[in-house]
Amino acid sequence: MKKQYIVGNWKMNQDLESIKSFFADLDLSESSCETWISPQALHIQTLVNDSPKTLQVGGQNICEATSGAYTGETSAKALKDMGATFCLIGHSERRSLFQEDDDLLNKKVHQALSCGLKVIFCVGETLQERNQGITESVIKSQLIEGLEAIGPAQIANDTLLIAYEPVWAIGTGEVATPEQAQAIHHFIRNTLAFDLDWRDKQVPLLYGGSVKPGNAEGLLCQKDIDGALVGGASLKATDYSRLASIASSLQKN
Ligand code: 13P
Repeated sequence: MKKQYIVGNWKMNQDLESIKSFFADLDLSESSCETWISPQALHIQTLVNDSPKTLQVGGQNICEATSGAYTGETSAKALKDMGATFCLIGHSERRSLFQEDDDLLNKKVHQALSCGLKVIFCVGETLQERNQGITESVIKSQLIEGLEAIGPAQIANDTLLIAYEPVWAIGTGEVATPEQAQAIHHFIRNTLAFDLDWRDKQVPLLYGGSVKPGNAEGLLCQKDIDGALVGGASLKATDYSRLASIASSLQKN
């Protein structure tokens, strides 16, 4: 059975009231896929306490250091203590708005894994890079540098997931076609197998960028797409529930 993931990235959205109504409206009764959500860090404990027990809760960012004089940062250990099970690392908004480079992201991946957090490592090209024809080389270097010195032994089952999020498709309503997304996912699969030497590891690959109930099935049924990392549509309980039920129905194939 092909396992599917619906991961909501709430970014800096939702408040306690909207979270309450989200869970009042959420219906996962038709779902058997993995359902994960990363809210703002300060809301993690609320979700851990008040969301369905099948839902995994994660962070959107961590500090690369274990602890110390890093005012304003959040450690991987603190996220774990609050009940988070995973963390996004390398989201394009972190790369572009907060100047996080591959070297820093690699330290964050090591930090998260060493604290027992699963990692969703995000990669993706800008529109300019796609138009220049360098999509594959951009993604290859994000993978090789961001995942440097992570040995296959550190990756068990879904400890490490990759999200391919083309920057031009994030929050724009312009989704990659299933064929475009599949081609890059296949490329990522090969890069992990042959460049990182993770041949025998099953690393789930998620697509992200304007995923909605109306376009999810075409993407999720692709051979190398194991789920979706969803921004805007994950804020609405009806859309999130619908995405989870679409993903669950594809698990049977
Ligand atoms: P949208 O689904 O709003 O395009 O956002 C995608 C994303 O950035 C998820 O991490």
